[in-house]
Amino acid sequence: MTSPHPVSTLDLALERERSAQPLYQQLYQRIRDAILAGRLPPGTRLPATRVLAADLAVSRGTVDQAYSQLLAEGFLLSRAAAGTVVNPALDPKRFGQHRPLHPAASPGAAAGSATSSMPLPFQLGLPALDAFPRKLWTRLAGQRARSLSQVALSYPSPVGYLPLRQAIAHHLALFRGIDCSVEQVFVTSGFQGGLGLAMQTLLRTGDAVWMEDPGYFRARKALQLNGATLHPVPVDQHGLRVEDGIRRCPDAKLVYCTPSHHAPLGVTLTLPRRLELLAWAAQRGAWIVEDDYDGEFRYDGPPLPALQSLDSAERVIYVGSFSKTLFPGLRLGYLVVPPGLVERFAQAADLFAPSPSLLDQATAADFLQQGHFARHIKRMRALYAERRAALVAALETECGGRLRIDQHAVGLQLVGWLAEGEDDQAIAARLWAQGLAGQMLSTFCLNGGQPPALLFSFANVPVEQAPALARRVKAALDGL
Ligand SMILES: Cc1ncc(COP(=O)(O)O)c(C=O)c1O
Repeated sequence: MTSPHPVSTLDLALERERSAQPLYQQLYQRIRDAILAGRLPPGTRLPATRVLAADLAVSRGTVDQAYSQLLAEGFLLSRAAAGTVVNPALDPKRFGQHRPLHPAASPGAAAGSATSSMPLPFQLGLPALDAFPRKLWTRLAGQRARSLSQVALSYPSPVGYLPLRQAIAHHLALFRGIDCSVEQVFVTSGFQGGLGLAMQTLLRTGDAVWMEDPGYFRARKALQLNGATLHPVPVDQHGLRVEDGIRRCPDAKLVYCTPSHHAPLGVTLTLPRRLELLAWAAQRGAWIVEDDYDGEFRYDGPPLPALQSLDSAERVIYVGSFSKTLFPGLRLGYLVVPPGLVERFAQAADLFAPSPSLLDQATAADFLQQGHFARHIKRMRALYAERRAALVAALETECGGRLRIDQHAVGLQLVGWLAEGEDDQAIAARLWAQGLAGQMLSTFCLNGGQPPALLFSFANVPVEQAPALARRVKAALDGL
């Protein structure tokens, strides 16, 4: 007698009538929860899409979509002969007490070195400033300014304007897989303000901190200025090398990382590494600062959920920013802190990092609540996909032999690898001399060890300008 397939013993019943969640998302979530709870062990073979679709009386497309999402996130692997299996590299011991994903939080459910010059081509850290709906924003800001009550002239809540916090919680549930209460959401002055608040609350002078190497230099500088002892942890094609971090500094107090889209290499932290990091942090009582600065912009499917969505031991401080999704001049960002830290963060926010201007927060809240934000992200994702494709094609045509372009599925920039021995500094200087923002990968490195490379943002490169700009890059490579 053959034993039943492990999937057929699971409760995969889908809710057709009462749930607003699409069927593929329900199926994705049920399988994901079964893997994390150990009910589908690593290596388990999943039924063919046709078979599961017939069992569940859904279309093959529904099962395909759920499998694709699980494949993209690393829960499943596709094996030619063996079909689709649960990723054998996942270690069930690391899953701990998994907290299943809950349906999206509803907005009503809760209580109560930047630059100011014109962007240069390839300049990192900026969204497409030419494509921001300025008229709409101005209208919303004007309405808010005109209807400002006397109460609103007083001090705003240090943790943020409640409707904006509600809208952020709602956005994070839908786009980043984060299930949090509004009390856990703090409005900050961009990522940098959020990091400052986290450091103020959690770190003491001399505390050991893992820093991605290469890693975001503004986070590195802030941590250094705050007196942290930095321990560089290398990054490879799977993201942060957690094993190296544990070996080099097993009792770090905090980890700074960019799991969705490594800054600046662009790789995504794989699921086995995510679980390894969370398990170590839970065991050691370390904090993880997750910088999710542009996770919304993924081009090959829906955005991957944040690391925070897997954190059942409450170790992750999630930091988001509107700098890429709206515009950096707004200086608005947000933190999601574990429930046990809410009180400490609230006290520190009140005294050290109160939330920014109420007028801007209220305008942003309207923008989110009226659906403009979701539409804007969708529009920008399509625009960035076009700009990215045009710049990649142009650089490959002009500089193909000299520059190997790495394009990842997320974010607003490309890495251009130079041949070993090329002088990245001289090339970057020639780019700057032509008015192009050529940034070297080495400025992000602590210990070096990376081949020479240049970074190119495509956010502010209109499609029609890509060929001419690529020719100027070629000239800089040729020493002209
Ligand atoms: C890695 C990284 N984190 C965060 C940010 C956003 O920072 P802020 O919100 O302070 O503008 C950026 C902007 O370029 C970034 O590159």
